[in-house]
Amino acid sequence: MLEVPNFHYERVSSTNDVAKELLFKYDCLFVSADYQYNGRGRKGRSWEGESHKNIYLSFGVNETKQEFIKNKILYQIIGCLAVESTLSEFATGAKIKLKYPNDVYIANEKNEYKKISGVLAEHSYSGNICTESVLGIGININQIVFDKSVAEKATSLKLLGYNCDTDNILDSLKSNILKFMQSNEEETFGLWKKKIDLVGKNIIVVSNGVEYKVDTISPFGTLLASNHNGHITINNGDSIIYEL
Ligand code: BTN
Repeated sequence: MLEVPNFHYERVSSTNDVAKELLFKYDCLFVSADYQYNGRGRKGRSWEGESHKNIYLSFGVNETKQEFIKNKILYQIIGCLAVESTLSEFATGAKIKLKYPNDVYIANEKNEYKKISGVLAEHSYSGNICTESVLGIGININQIVFDKSVAEKATSLKLLGYNCDTDNILDSLKSNILKFMQSNEEETFGLWKKKIDLVGKNIIVVSNGVEYKVDTISPFGTLLASNHNGHITINNGDSIIYEL
């Protein structure tokens, strides 16, 4: 079993930032926190959450010393798959879905899917060589009130009736991350492609409201879609809407 150093803080700006700062000393490491005062989401958004209630975890890799994954797109994929495995362990019987590109949704008692987790993979490059990767994961566990900007679409394990200890979930999440980091890349990609379940589905491009059908997903996670007017490629999940 791979031994990975763990750092837990009460309060940090962002676990992704702390992981990056510590990477000069370690081949890889986990950084978790009870609270982030400057948590980041994708596309420059913030990721906010109460203290001691949720999971804020980053897995950092100094790629010049230890390369787990060649196809870096797999970082965000592994994040989603690890969250899904961990949630299935603790939220017994819950319906969990992955949403393109890297969110995890879970159904409530009305069968409405709400976001319970987000993944942010960040990479640093020297020329075209990846030198550092950080996989950041936030999971809503015991928070029951959310900011009104996200309240409509967010949920937590507690809101769904599951009483869980964040430490147990954190341990499971770390071991799932390491399991997928050491798995065969093609198999991991295949598993994600199956779980994301997008091929053949209709998507709507937000900017112009035009509908396309997804034909395939490239090895780099890009969606290739078409309609009677032609083909498009999509690599920004926030630019499309579709039914989970
Ligand atoms: C998203 O859905 O936009 C991605 C959210 C990622 C949040 C996590 S929490 C741990 C890590 N540190 C951060 O600042 N962000 C990620």
